[in-house]
Amino acid sequence: MENPAIKGKKLAAGKAIEYIRAGMTLGLGTGSTAYWAIQGIGDMVKEGLSIKAVATSLQSEALARELNIPIIPFSAVDHLDITIDGADEVDKELNLIKGGGGALLREKIVAAVTKFYIIIVDESKLVDKLGKFPLPVEVAPFAWELTERKLAALGCTPKMRMAGDQPYLTDNNHYILDCSFGTIHDPALLHRQVSDITGVMEDGFFIGMADVIISGAPGGEVKVISKNGKV
Ligand code: A5P
Repeated sequence: MENPAIKGKKLAAGKAIEYIRAGMTLGLGTGSTAYWAIQGIGDMVKEGLSIKAVATSLQSEALARELNIPIIPFSAVDHLDITIDGADEVDKELNLIKGGGGALLREKIVAAVTKFYIIIVDESKLVDKLGKFPLPVEVAPFAWELTERKLAALGCTPKMRMAGDQPYLTDNNHYILDCSFGTIHDPALLHRQVSDITGVMEDGFFIGMADVIISGAPGGEVKVISKNGKV
């Protein structure tokens, strides 16, 4: 039997790609859910759909190239019509924690120029309040210990993300501190406080950016939740 979470991810991805039209410039997300959207877009390109795309990670770019999805440099982009990406947590206001896959900085740059930002998740990612998933914070390796202390002073326990016995390096050659705050009651405020720390390159809060959340459940149910409520 197919893993239930994978089924939910595939269903959400399948629904999201229905929004794509010929001629669009797309943002390709990162992670195990966005993977299914990229596969679906690859199939559409194979069937003759003409689109262009930018990728939020080297990994997604490599996958897109394998599938013959035309990748353009970010310098060629003013705006993106649609981006489809995953998330680690989604709250009831459509605020997100992202960055479990380490691509948060590029993901946020892409999200910021996207007209219609679609987040796809399996239903286990929907939460009342953010914070069970530690907040990924991308930091400059230089003097990272100082940045870590400033983050800890905000009330979290930062943990260096590792790749074996070395710190994990992002596509931008930065470190990631995974910061456990517990339940977060005011994500917008905490986002401002974290972003204000010099040495923080980006945090994993995506506040008010998502236009639509599409969640898939193993039983086959797909929910589309927009800023204005369920649609
Ligand atoms: C990548 O950095 C992340 O923001 C992902 O979008 C997020 O971690 C969701 O990943 P999965 O779809 O693999 O759960």
